[in-house]
Amino acid sequence: MTLRALVPYFRRHPAKLVSGIGSIALAAAIGLVAPLLVGNAVDALRDAASAERLLRYGVLLVGVVALQGLFTFAQRWILVGLSRDIEFELRNDYFEHLERLPLSFYQESTTGDLMARGTNDLQAVRMLCGPAIMYGSNTLFTATGALFFMARIEGRLTLLALATMPLVAVATQVFGSKIHVLFERVQEQFSTLSTRVQENLAGVRVVRAYAREESEQATFRTANDEYVERNRHLIRWTAAFHPMLQGLVGVGFVAVLWYGGLQVTRGVITVGEFVSFNFFLSKLVWPMIAIGWVINLVQRGSASLARILKVLETEPAVRDQGTLAALPEIRGRVVFRDMEFAWEEATPVLRGIDLEVPAGATVALVGRTGAGKSTLLSLIPRLVEPPRDRLFIDGVDVRSLPLAQLRATIAAVPQETFLFSTTLGANIALGRPDATETEIEAVARAAGLEQELEELPDGLATRIGERGITLSGGQKQRVALARALLRRPRILLLDDCLSAVDTATEERILGHLRREFEGRTVFLVSHRVSAVRGADQIVVLDRGRIVERGRHDELLAAGGAYSELARLQRLEEELEAV
Ligand SMILES: Nc1ncnc2c1ncn2[C@@H]1O[C@H](COP(=O)(O)OP(=O)(O)O)[C@@H](O)[C@H]1O
Ligand SMILES: [Mg+2]
Repeated sequence: MTLRALVPYFRRHPAKLVSGIGSIALAAAIGLVAPLLVGNAVDALRDAASAERLLRYGVLLVGVVALQGLFTFAQRWILVGLSRDIEFELRNDYFEHLERLPLSFYQESTTGDLMARGTNDLQAVRMLCGPAIMYGSNTLFTATGALFFMARIEGRLTLLALATMPLVAVATQVFGSKIHVLFERVQEQFSTLSTRVQENLAGVRVVRAYAREESEQATFRTANDEYVERNRHLIRWTAAFHPMLQGLVGVGFVAVLWYGGLQVTRGVITVGEFVSFNFFLSKLVWPMIAIGWVINLVQRGSASLARILKVLETEPAVRDQGTLAALPEIRGRVVFRDMEFAWEEATPVLRGIDLEVPAGATVALVGRTGAGKSTLLSLIPRLVEPPRDRLFIDGVDVRSLPLAQLRATIAAVPQETFLFSTTLGANIALGRPDATETEIEAVARAAGLEQELEELPDGLATRIGERGITLSGGQKQRVALARALLRRPRILLLDDCLSAVDTATEERILGHLRREFEGRTVFLVSHRVSAVRGADQIVVLDRGRIVERGRHDELLAAGGAYSELARLQRLEEELEAV
């Protein structure tokens, strides 16, 4: 069952759980004393009790109520606090897990949906861990106690008072499940709505560029309308629920007044007992209503918990497993041996790749879009899991290397970079938060950001907006490059990372980089011959296979695909020069 997943969380707070429920029991027990006291006081009137005796009842009553108040305070304080603790831990676990999930998971789920799980659903689970337990156990204790005393006063009257109970149970069930379904629909629409907002904020440039503001507003309004409409529907049912329960309870009271009054006149019970009985009965009203509410909370909470668990139970794709062989030091020799790889079964993306890159060498990969260059690079730091015994670093299967060591050795600059909404300097220092200002500045210059350092208002301390929205594509790419250089990796993976800067700038930056490349193994993907000509080895990929390899002049002389690419680019340059 879903709810079992909460057990470990409660286990961590045994003292709070026990003292919380203990307070509920005490508050309920003390609360049951009051009706007995009132009953006794009324019966004392019949015996013409002294004013002094009545005062004593009054003082006792005040004392009892005050004590009950104290424990009611304690139960709330402890149990609501407990639910906040569990919410805190669950939220941490959720976020921690999101950080480790496979990339494919993010292709299948929307950000809005994941946000809804982390906010609304988490809230529903908290209600389950705090209020539901609190009202649930209060109901249990109070109802049991009240029924016990009622039965002692008059058995048949108690049965009569309870006659409407089955109706209450049925109504709760019917309304409860309807409300549950409606709540789910509300939640679903909230996800849709969040997704729309999230995408619009992230894609604000595209929305503006295509003049989609109005139509996006319209779509949003429709979705928002739908959200409100679903909420209204839900409200209609929840609003009808309470009055109906109270009505049923009222019927019980009327029956008790009639039959109980009769029993008093017959002398079966005293007036005092009758008064106590009515007080006990009124103590049952809230528990009866609370039952429905608690059932709702439990249903919502477990539905929400299931949604959260679905994420928590998704396996992180790549993780350390099997026997690990941490190397004292990674030097950076990378070998692919007959590598076969497919994203989806039956469509191989890499086929029979044999490639040996000595430590410190630069290998360039060229080939059309979709040839498999990015896929090849993403296997090295195990962003996706390569098959066993196909990819080796310093002679060790990458799958045997501890992930932490592997990734500390490698820095990758992806085709599409991501910047965080903080300062330029903090973005560069992402992989090495301890780096000094001087170090950051040095790599920024090496990555060709010298002009930006001078022109940006606060230099490295300039905030660059969400996802670096204030920077151009080429600037973002250079920030990403600086970020990778700062890590001083043994293996550097550059995936077409200067595609958005012009050829002249790229050449200038690559000039700086030659020095940075020394002593590092570099994988350089580019579609420009000018960028790759200096590489120790150039590999031409086509549809997942290596079709040519060699140095620049060797490949030119061979007259294959590479020389054809070089010829076309020379032609282009000449045309541009005209
Ligand atoms: N995350 C992914 N999931 C499924 N297929 C992918 C994924 N990434 C790339 N592919 C597919 O793998 C093939 C090679 O893509 P890629 O390695 O990006 O080529 P390149 O970088 O040479 O342009 C393409 O057919 C592409 O559709
Ligand atoms: Mg690519």
